[in-house]
Amino acid sequence: MIDNVVLVGPMGAGKSTIGRLLAARLAFHFYDTDSVIEERTGADIPWIFDVEGEEGFRARESAVLGELVHSSGAVIATGGGIIMREVNREMLSQAGAVVYLTASIDQLVERTCKDKKRPLLQVADPRAKIIELIKLRDPLYREVATCVVETDGRSPRFVVQHIA
Ligand code: S3P
Repeated sequence: MIDNVVLVGPMGAGKSTIGRLLAARLAFHFYDTDSVIEERTGADIPWIFDVEGEEGFRARESAVLGELVHSSGAVIATGGGIIMREVNREMLSQAGAVVYLTASIDQLVERTCKDKKRPLLQVADPRAKIIELIKLRDPLYREVATCVVETDGRSPRFVVQHIA
């Protein structure tokens, strides 16, 4: 019996959308680490990055993950950088089934280009930044993943059905 399903993957992979639908499908609770961080802080992620820097955000992220991994019957959507800290990777591998959602660079760019809520992508060339992050992070997502699920050209409902 799997306790939790944790979704990891890059910004724009669809972790929150798919996580919400998957939780409804499995009758699990749904948590999104970014939303929990924002609720606890009373501020949004751009504000946290501005005032506390990425390190401040990462500390909050580890604290929230540390709480959520004690859940039972939860789908947990995580921020794209959660796998950067070793302590997080250890927590993730004990939390339940870890699903790595992947998408092509084109899809990731398309899904993230319209909003301003991701501080790491507020740069002159967001596409180059996405490529750089994927290079660095893909091996780490794979290190913690129980399975890898491609999302390109697939509807959220299809992906949910596949995971379930
Ligand atoms: C980040 C991804 C974001 C959020 C923060 C940092 C990252 O979450 O945690 O902006 O380092 O990739 P999403 O993956 O949900 O966009």
